[in-house]
Amino acid sequence: MDTEVVPMPRIGDDAPAFEAVTTQGKINFPADYKGKWVILFSHPADFTPVCTSEFMTFASMEEEFNALNCQLVGLSVDGLYSHIAWLRTIKEKIEFKGMKNVEVKFPLIEDITMEVSKKYGMIQPGESNTKAVRAVFFIDPIGKIRAIIYYPLSLGRNFEELKRVLIALQTADKFGVATPADWQPGDDVIVPPAGSCGTAKDRVEGKEAGIKCYDWFFCTKPISKDEVFKAIKK
Ligand code: BEZ
Repeated sequence: MDTEVVPMPRIGDDAPAFEAVTTQGKINFPADYKGKWVILFSHPADFTPVCTSEFMTFASMEEEFNALNCQLVGLSVDGLYSHIAWLRTIKEKIEFKGMKNVEVKFPLIEDITMEVSKKYGMIQPGESNTKAVRAVFFIDPIGKIRAIIYYPLSLGRNFEELKRVLIALQTADKFGVATPADWQPGDDVIVPPAGSCGTAKDRVEGKEAGIKCYDWFFCTKPISKDEVFKAIKK
């Protein structure tokens, strides 16, 4: 029995470092990505249907993520030649939901030894001992883990949601705000508690410009979609 205990990385931790072989050459992670956001994500296995639908979707959206200063890096416990053959099959043979000739240009890590997937808590034995779950790590330009989402093997991810998470993290950083439930760019954002720039009373009474308070602890302000994208786009 494998008794090795590897702590799971958590939000706020430095992204665990590793060197790996990928479909785009060797990478030194996260050092090679300094100054950029990265989404490091795992999939259970090459040549499987859910993963194929995910890769086609993510690859089709890659430019949208790149425009947000974000690079994509995939991983599974398959070997490099399997990755290459699978990505070639996707490009040459698979047409799905209007996507065809899809070229996966982002690196896909080979992790036959499971060194990286174990470091990142992607092997979750209750789900599978031999395959990575669908993990998504959002890593910021200084190499800190900022959000983590895990999905089981059977559940394909929603890539619009992953984009929304990235934009919300970037908006929070740029404007010093938080984002409420179901926030989309252009919706009101949550402002920090009063103190530095006004009193709670001013806010509740609507005296602080643009700020709307539902109560003393819950105040919002508008930031337009244009302002958001102007601030976060590369
Ligand atoms: C899939 O991608 O289709 C898949 C992979 C592993 C287990 C179940 C489904």
